Amino acid sequence: MKELLSCLGKYKKYAILAPLFVALEVIGEVAIPYLMEIIVDRGIGDGSFPSNMKIVVNTGILMAVIAILSLIFGILSGKFAVKASTGFAAGIRTKQMEKIQGFSAANMDKYSTASLITRLTKDVTNIQMAFQSIIRMCVRAPLMMIFSTIMAFTLNSSLALMFLIAIPVLGISLFVIARTAYPRFNLMLREYDEMEETIQSNLISIRTVKAFVRKDFECNKFNKSSDEVNQASLRAEKVLLFNNPIMQFVTYLCMLLAAYFGAHLIVSATMKTGELMGFINYIQQILFSLMMVSMAGVMIVMSSSSFKRINEVLKEKPAIVDNLDSTIQLEDASIEFKNVNFSYSKNLDKSVLNNINLRIEPGETIGIIGGTGSSKSTLVQLIARLYDTTTGEVIVGKHNVKEYKLETLRNAVSMVLQKNVLFSGTIKENLKWGNEHASDEEIIQACKDAQAHDFIMSFPNKYETELGQGGVNVSGGQKQRLCIARALIKKPQIIILDDSTSAVDTATDSKIRAAFRKNLKDTTTLIIAQRITSVYDADRIIVMDKGNIVDIGTHDSLLKSCSIYQEVYTSQQKGVMEQ
Ligand SMILES: Nc1ncnc2c1ncn2[C@@H]1O[C@H](COP(=O)(O)OP(=O)(O)OP(=O)(O)O)[C@@H](O)[C@H]1O
Ligand SMILES: [Mg+2]
Repeated sequence: MKELLSCLGKYKKYAILAPLFVALEVIGEVAIPYLMEIIVDRGIGDGSFPSNMKIVVNTGILMAVIAILSLIFGILSGKFAVKASTGFAAGIRTKQMEKIQGFSAANMDKYSTASLITRLTKDVTNIQMAFQSIIRMCVRAPLMMIFSTIMAFTLNSSLALMFLIAIPVLGISLFVIARTAYPRFNLMLREYDEMEETIQSNLISIRTVKAFVRKDFECNKFNKSSDEVNQASLRAEKVLLFNNPIMQFVTYLCMLLAAYFGAHLIVSATMKTGELMGFINYIQQILFSLMMVSMAGVMIVMSSSSFKRINEVLKEKPAIVDNLDSTIQLEDASIEFKNVNFSYSKNLDKSVLNNINLRIEPGETIGIIGGTGSSKSTLVQLIARLYDTTTGEVIVGKHNVKEYKLETLRNAVSMVLQKNVLFSGTIKENLKWGNEHASDEEIIQACKDAQAHDFIMSFPNKYETELGQGGVNVSGGQKQRLCIARALIKKPQIIILDDSTSAVDTATDSKIRAAFRKNLKDTTTLIIAQRITSVYDADRIIVMDKGNIVDIGTHDSLLKSCSIYQEVYTSQQKGVMEQ
């Protein structure tokens, strides 16, 4: 709660002013029926009219002034509440976004992208709406109730005794309704989340859906999900339906009783007409405030689930702690794994890397080969500290990766991830992600090395070509080459290509490697590939199988000694022969 409230920031003053002005508004509203009573009973009631005209006029003017002031206070409190709640929402969004940017890969694995988007948008809007009404209603309703009850007792205490029965009856029914509604609303929001995930995953992968002709399946899935939201909302809203009728029944009953007994009292001259009028007005105000309490209750119920979800993000502990004060720089471009074990979960039984020991010298070119799921990507991700080892040490540039400031490490270690993406914007803007200060010459050189320059120049707008979201308007192989160029622009000491040329033809792939050999002599290069042709000319090749390093050697030595390598080689040669 404290964490969330700190998001109010400079809008705190509005969050205080809004309820303050509401209180002033309520005082005005409560005073009006009382003034009415004075006009009726003292101004008109005692029969000396028009001699008491002065009372009528004076009280009338006072009433008008109070009504106008009350209106102004109401408008101001509304304005402050809007300012406070929109500021609050912006604060929460910024704080969540900052937190998410600090998430490590392990943190990201925990949440789905769809869920994080919902937490940044819909959940924040829920909180904003709730906050806006709560800071007004939660002050207005109780104040109004207390003041109205006091005033009603002042007017006629014996008649007001009926409140002692009516208010607890209404309170209990409200409590029962809220209690029943709460779990139902929670369920409704969960169903809503699921529907949103269905929509998002469908829209993000709409091309795959079309390619597999899954339209009907996806439509059915969505309809089912949407139907579940519908049912859950019905179940939740149904409970609230009882709210208004009960409130109105009790209130009108009170009015009826007040009119009946009041009339008797007037006849017996123990109550005046104006008093009864004021009294009935107060009953109405109490009804109104109870309605507000119930609305605020619903808002709180609806937003508490969002509140919990946002708090979860804000309280998430980053799995990787950045060594912010560190000034250590890499001493060279060497890499060493010492007794490294790694598991994505806390359960070491599901170990993904087993006792890895490895040393890579500065400037070496290393190929990594192995079947799918043999943990190649996992191995290299530890070098840029996308994940921390479960046990053992990863040493880069003669220091444990944990000793560096993350920025220093990741500037030195450039990774072209297997699932790499481009962003909306021009090609040049995308390339500058690697280094925003890169000159045009540097960009062109990197693109030449990545064999991207020629196809970029063939586009009408060249480097200024707009890329669609995720780089949809370039081919798979072009996208991979742009990603390699983006990594090169960083001028890293270590570069890792994780299956980054899988969609590039063999001839271009070989040109990229030739350019690397020529222009990146001192850069330690790790190339993960499925094709042996992509790694056969590396200084050494690592062969991986089921999270283990099975063998390390040159292409020739592995062909002689490593059965897995021989198998892969033979099957790929066969593939070539059969073509
Ligand atoms: N984020 C993750 N959370 C949990 N398990 C994961 C995660 N990423 C990978 N794994 C698991 O770890 C194992 C190794 O995966 P990894 O991606 O390292 O294999 P790979 O050799 O790169 O495969 P490929 O050649 O298909 O890219 C697999 O069994 C995979 O299911
Ligand atoms: Mg992989």
